[in-house]
Amino acid sequence: MKLPLSALCAISAFLVIKADEEVPLPPEFRRCNRNAADFSLCARQAIEEAWPTLVKGIPELGIPQLDPFVVNSLEQEFHSGVLRGKMIVKNARVYGAAGHKFKSVKLHLNGDRFNMEMDVTVPKILTEGDYMGDGYISAFKIGGKGQFNVTMEGIKTYFNIEGRVENDRWVVEHFKVFPEISNMHIWFSDLFNGNKDLNKAALIFCNEYWPVLYRGMLPYISPYMDNYMTDFANRVFSKISFSNMFPSEK
Ligand SMILES: *[C@@H]1O[C@H](CO)[C@@H](O)[C@H](O)[C@H]1NC(C)=O
Repeated sequence: MKLPLSALCAISAFLVIKADEEVPLPPEFRRCNRNAADFSLCARQAIEEAWPTLVKGIPELGIPQLDPFVVNSLEQEFHSGVLRGKMIVKNARVYGAAGHKFKSVKLHLNGDRFNMEMDVTVPKILTEGDYMGDGYISAFKIGGKGQFNVTMEGIKTYFNIEGRVENDRWVVEHFKVFPEISNMHIWFSDLFNGNKDLNKAALIFCNEYWPVLYRGMLPYISPYMDNYMTDFANRVFSKISFSNMFPSEK
């Protein structure tokens, strides 16, 4: 296919504009001076104040509604010692993000390196949706499809978001999330291809031993979350001027 030069110019101009596109932060969001002694304190207040707006979603910035957060489809394979197989989750809704409390926020700007640490708590997250699973726990065959719900309570999460400032944008390299959960309740309709007694036993087992299962799944969840959240953060921060968010005037 041959395109006229003028069309190519129009397309490349469009791409350049797209790449540099800046979306102004909502004017009501607090700006924090990066040279101020209370930079971190200001950022904690800024996030806390902005959170109800963020939770509703800001489409211009690519932030979807966060409560409930909708996951259309997600696929994960497991290859740990006891747990092997594949899990597909569809039409999942995650409720509770609105309840996040930002306990502490620490910002570190050093040359072009910028990182943000946060301690965040949330009383309860409920996830529900459809699933399909197939695999083994130890030598035991499991599989099935149906509905599930998981309630997590008393969640304390440490976030560490690392990156660099480039062309007045924060480029995120890692988005690390370390959640501690004090209670979990798990329900699924069928994990044993229709065997109700086994499913009932599995529910009792899961609800008793969820800390062990959770620890077993963390090595899979953590890198997945890091990739997912890093992409997400970059889609958002590539549209925001760093010097507008964190001005440097004295
Ligand atoms: C999970 O689903 C089951 C079956 O529909 C229901 O009985 C239970 O109340 C649900 N749990 C929560 C926390 O919604």
